Amino acid sequence: MTPRNYVRADLAAIKAYSPAAPNCELDLSDNTNLWGTPPSVDAVIAEMTRGALARYPSSNAQAMRVALAGYIGMPVECVVAGCGSDDILDSIMRAFVQPGDAVAIPDPSFSMASVFARVSGLRPLLIPLTPAQSPDIEAMIGSGVRMLYLCTPNNPTGGVISLADIENVLGNFNGLVIVDEAYAEFSEFTAIPLLRSYENLIVTRTLSKAFGLAGLRIGYAVCAPLLAAEIEKTRGPYKVNAVAERVGASVVCNDRQWVARVVAEVRENRERLSRELRQRGYEPLDSSANFLLLPVKEALTLANRLAERSIAVRAFDNLTGIGDAIRVTVGPWPMMQAMLDALDGIVA
Ligand SMILES: Cc1ncc(COP(=O)(O)O)c(C=O)c1O
Repeated sequence: MTPRNYVRADLAAIKAYSPAAPNCELDLSDNTNLWGTPPSVDAVIAEMTRGALARYPSSNAQAMRVALAGYIGMPVECVVAGCGSDDILDSIMRAFVQPGDAVAIPDPSFSMASVFARVSGLRPLLIPLTPAQSPDIEAMIGSGVRMLYLCTPNNPTGGVISLADIENVLGNFNGLVIVDEAYAEFSEFTAIPLLRSYENLIVTRTLSKAFGLAGLRIGYAVCAPLLAAEIEKTRGPYKVNAVAERVGASVVCNDRQWVARVVAEVRENRERLSRELRQRGYEPLDSSANFLLLPVKEALTLANRLAERSIAVRAFDNLTGIGDAIRVTVGPWPMMQAMLDALDGIVA
C-alpha cells in the first residue's frame, strides 16, 4: 500500500489553491485592503494579555457577533462567525445539503465555491453568466438543485446582482440561496434587508476586504437563527481565535470611518484606473468591488511578465464567456500607477 491508496479519488482530482506570485513586491492579486489595517487594531493587540492566549476563546465568538449584529442591524442570533468566509461557505455546504446533491453556481464566480462543494461530495452545477455578465436567474431558479450560490459584487467580474433579481430567486427557488457579499462595502448593495422577508437566504460577509483583516481570518453569515445554529453545529467550537475575536469586535465598532474613507478612495481609483486602461485600449469590466477584471489575449504570459517586474495579478485562463483575463486589486494610486507603468513597459 502507498499513501495514494488512502486518498479519495474525487479529492485527489481537486487542485490545491495556489496564491499568485507570492514573492512580488506589489501584490495586486488577492483583493485585500492595500491601505493596511484599521487604526484600532494595534492598541487592541497590545492590550491582549498572555493569559488571554493561554485559554480558549469564547466558543462562538459571542462579543464579536454582538458587534457584527450591531454593524448590520440584525439580532445576534442571526450571526454566525468563522475562520474567514471560506470557512463559513464550507460549513454551509456541509450543513444543508447531502453528498451527491447539486449546488448551482454561476460561471465565472468565486472559484472556492465549487471547490468547497466538491470537497463535501456535492456536485457543482456551473451556470454560465449571461452575455451581460449577470447570473442567469431563470436558469438558476429552474436548475432543480437544492442550493444556489450567488456572489455580489461577483468575483472575478465585479458586477452586482439587482435586488429585484435576488428577490425573484428567493421567492421562486425551492431551496437555500447563499449570497456571498465579501465585497459588499465597496458597492451600495446588500441583500441583508431581505432576511426579514425570506427565510431561505444566507448572506456571507468577511472582514478580509474593506476591513483590512485578511490575516486574522474572520468571516460571518447572516441568516435565520435556526439556520445559524445548524451552521455552528457543522464544526468544532473556537473557529474564531482570541485575537481575531477582540480585533474584529473593535474594528466594526471603532473603525467604520476609516473603512468609509478607504471605500471612497477605492471607488475613485477604480474609475481612474479603468479610464487609464481604456485609454490604452483595454476593456475592463464595470466593477462595484475593489478590483477590475481585464480581458487580455494571454493572461498567464502577461501575469508572468508583470511578476518579472515584481507585480502580482491574478491570471485567469479562458474564463467562460470572457476568455483570458487578469484581475487587478485596486489600491492607493501610486500602486496603480506602478501597474500602469509596468504594463506600458511590457507593451512597448
Ligand atoms: C467572493 C469571495 N468570497 C469569499 C472569499 C473568502 O474570503 P475570506 O475567507 O478571507 O473571508 C473571497 C476571497 O477572496 C471572495 O472573493
